[in-house]
Amino acid sequence: MTRNFTLSNSTIENISDESPSLVASRNAMADPYHPVKNPNGILNLGIAANKLQGDLLIKKDLDYGNACGSEELRKSVSTLVNKYFNPISPVISSHIIVTNGVTSAMDKLASVICNHEEAVLVSEPYYSFLTTDVNLVAKAVVHGVPVPPSEIQSPSQVNYYESKYRELSSLGITVKMIILCNPHNPTGKVYSRAALEAILRFANKYDIYVIFDEIYALSVYRSPTKNIINSIGSSNNHSDELYTFESVLSFDNLNELIDPRLVVVVHGLSKDFCMNGFRVGWIISPFNSDIIKALSKISPFSYISAFTDRLVANILSDAEFIDVLTYTVRRNLLINYNKITAFLSQKNISYIPAQAGNFILIDIKPFLLIWKNNNLQPGESPITNIKDLTFDDEYQLWISSIEKGRIYYSSGVNIKAHEPGWVRLIFSQEWNSLKFGLERLIDFFERGSST
Ligand SMILES: Cc1ncc(COP(=O)(O)O)c(C=O)c1O
Repeated sequence: MTRNFTLSNSTIENISDESPSLVASRNAMADPYHPVKNPNGILNLGIAANKLQGDLLIKKDLDYGNACGSEELRKSVSTLVNKYFNPISPVISSHIIVTNGVTSAMDKLASVICNHEEAVLVSEPYYSFLTTDVNLVAKAVVHGVPVPPSEIQSPSQVNYYESKYRELSSLGITVKMIILCNPHNPTGKVYSRAALEAILRFANKYDIYVIFDEIYALSVYRSPTKNIINSIGSSNNHSDELYTFESVLSFDNLNELIDPRLVVVVHGLSKDFCMNGFRVGWIISPFNSDIIKALSKISPFSYISAFTDRLVANILSDAEFIDVLTYTVRRNLLINYNKITAFLSQKNISYIPAQAGNFILIDIKPFLLIWKNNNLQPGESPITNIKDLTFDDEYQLWISSIEKGRIYYSSGVNIKAHEPGWVRLIFSQEWNSLKFGLERLIDFFERGSST
């Protein structure tokens, strides 16, 4: 069946023009001469690298590396993915492009897939950097899909995607891509299989690429089965359905849901391995080699240093260390999740129960109401109904919290929350300092910050 999806115009141009000299030099780089290990390899008298100072500089790993990630690094990433993501068929190094972080991966994918002004659907609330990730260079535009948090794990959310699609189509806007963050930032929810299947079917119907941001895949600290330590349940009226994380790479029925060429996964070091300073992420595209080809072309703009490459390959290939690290990360997240939720319950603060990541959404509407009435602008009357609060009120409280309360958090405006009065708190820090921060925040909220 001929399908009606294409990559961006610039990509079509880029990949149709594979210069033979570039292919030849890429091959030369991939098969370097070594007197013992590769005596038949290609002797490189072509790259403008000055090696005369070998004894002055630490020679190893200071040369140009492979812009897509070395074979060693991509192999260690594929081993990791095959072990933890349970793919239907093994991921291999040629399915992977390494980038300087997932932020960069998103920018590159948007450039490869979208033309200017094309729409990227993201369910609200969302990780707000996505807006600029796809826009600053690629000029694609995020359109939020207003999925209420109560439906984020349900297949019914596809109705919101359908209506956003219809709305954009009626304006003549092409919907090219969905970014689906699973586990989800900022709710900390894990999607159900049924919800993911519904979104994949929707995307397939309209030939939309789906980028799965699975950067929190290994940070799921509460599961429906066995947990590392006891998890305390939710004591408030928000749903606490727990699902097991399933990477889209593991779907044995993927072919029945969508043309797999439309599916790409991103992951990286920043969250599951807490190594955000390395700036290393990877794009996994086992089903679409054109995407790999297009990304290889632009990889010189986002490649990591050869030194980082070598170091990260070493870290990732230490299976025991990765097991211990990811176990410890999950255990520590759960310990702090238990503590922060107990704290919130004790203060009667409602929150959305989470399963993954290092954040939690809390409901500050009662505080916002007090703050609003303590900070009325000339001509404004006091309000009694929480429904009359606005995003502007929330924004003003946020600014005031930073300037006067001396505390920073993500306001609901920033993360495109469904209604005013929700904030995202990060709970992954040592409990005493987290508690100190929470107390300062609640104290500032409770006092209504009228001074
Ligand atoms: C959902 C999500 N995707 C991507 C990123 C960016 O990751 P990186 O540090 O690899 O650029 C973040 C960072 O907070 C995130 O939460």
